Amino acid sequence: MSTQEKVVVMGLGYVGLPMAVLAVKNGYDVTGLDMSKEKIDLINNGKSSVEDGWVETVFPDYTFPATSDPTVLENADIILVCVPTPIDDNYHPNLGPVKSATSTIANHLKKGALVILESTVNPGVSETIIKPIFDEKGFELGKDYDLAHCPERVDPGKSAFSSGYTSENLNRVVGAMTDEGTKRAAAFYRKILTGEVHEMKSIREAEATKIMENSFRDINIAFVNELAKSFDRLDIDIHDVIKGASTKPYAFMPHYPSCGVGGHCIPVDPYYLIEHAKSVGFDHKLLRESRAINNSMPEYTVELLQDRLNAIEKSLKGTKVGILGISFKPNIDDDRESPYYEIVKCLKKHEAQTIAYDPYLPKKSDVQSLTELLEKSDVIILTANHDEFMQMDLDLLKKHNIKILIDGKNCLDKNTIEKSGVMYKGIGR
Ligand SMILES: NC(=O)c1ccc[n+]([C@@H]2O[C@H](COP(=O)([O-])OP(=O)(O)OC[C@H]3O[C@@H](n4cnc5c(N)ncnc54)[C@H](O)[C@@H]3O)[C@@H](O)[C@H]2O)c1
Repeated sequence: MSTQEKVVVMGLGYVGLPMAVLAVKNGYDVTGLDMSKEKIDLINNGKSSVEDGWVETVFPDYTFPATSDPTVLENADIILVCVPTPIDDNYHPNLGPVKSATSTIANHLKKGALVILESTVNPGVSETIIKPIFDEKGFELGKDYDLAHCPERVDPGKSAFSSGYTSENLNRVVGAMTDEGTKRAAAFYRKILTGEVHEMKSIREAEATKIMENSFRDINIAFVNELAKSFDRLDIDIHDVIKGASTKPYAFMPHYPSCGVGGHCIPVDPYYLIEHAKSVGFDHKLLRESRAINNSMPEYTVELLQDRLNAIEKSLKGTKVGILGISFKPNIDDDRESPYYEIVKCLKKHEAQTIAYDPYLPKKSDVQSLTELLEKSDVIILTANHDEFMQMDLDLLKKHNIKILIDGKNCLDKNTIEKSGVMYKGIGR
């Protein structure tokens, strides 16, 4: 029976597509459900709906049908919910996609189905938001359906693939509303993953685990961003200091400063806990401060440029600023919450001209090659460490009369750039 169980994956993005592929690979009868016609068409034509090294390699061997028709849920034994959990302009969690996906499931639920939420949520969402939607439809938890949470941890993209961690081999935690639900969900993941599956005592603990992991990262990044700002004044190269501290074999984990924290997870997930904790009268001061520090980095990056321009008696107004990179991480087209957007906003406020180039986002770029960008720019801000930028011939900067380079990812060779006569400034170096 088990390998013939029907699985519906709701949300076929960075998280959902790999999970659907893994379920197909392990013998499940899988259907993908999404609202994006573009994604459905890509998948039904055997093409990956996301830029992810691992899934792009394996997907062609494990295809499945995708649809926007929710009636496919009526046959589903296992439903994976992998919809977005964004924040709004005021940094408030937007649980709209989770609520609407749950309502869709509740309208088409097959009795006995196991519903597993993979999206990142604050502790309490399964119990206080999702379960009541099923309650309203008269479904009894543990009898008519089971509800579990297995937060995804993967870091999609090209570099993630080369790091060796994929949706398949990463360890996972699973929690559910009932012991039986935990067992069922853990058994499903043990079948499709090679990573370890750790059973949590409750669904709330599983929800809290993911938020803790991403908040841990945000806090540590905020710490090095703060150090970068102070080291800039103290004339200490943070890059060298991190290398030094990394020689300690325990109790230190390197994190790196940059022009901003992007993506769908790290700059978003802590707000889910910050806001939820407020409802029980708790103020997450450290999380709030960390978010504020990390949110300040795009503006700080522009200030670094402004200071260097002032030193050569120029102003940002009218300066042609070439921006290398729109996406937030290397060699991928993902520009969600990318610091690029805040940097552009800040430059425009100062009436600078901006010219962007990202080889992975040609439609959003102002020019279509690195050479064209160099030809049209007075100064450069690097915002993404794509291979193309890291491997560029640094002599081209001087050749194109670039006066200043702000390295927002500390990824270029400072000495070579300075030796060539171009002013270099990294974040904290
Ligand atoms: N991308 C990551 O790096 C990552 C890693 C771990 C966890 N997560 C979490 O996983 C969740 C999904 O993230 P993602 O990056 O895959 O998002 P995504 O935007 O890449 O994909 C989400 C998909 O869900 C679809 N969708 C939205 N509402 C729907 C609905 N009601 N029914 C069916 N489909 C619907 C969208 O059309 C989209 O295709 C989020 O909670 C995110 O925080 C993301």
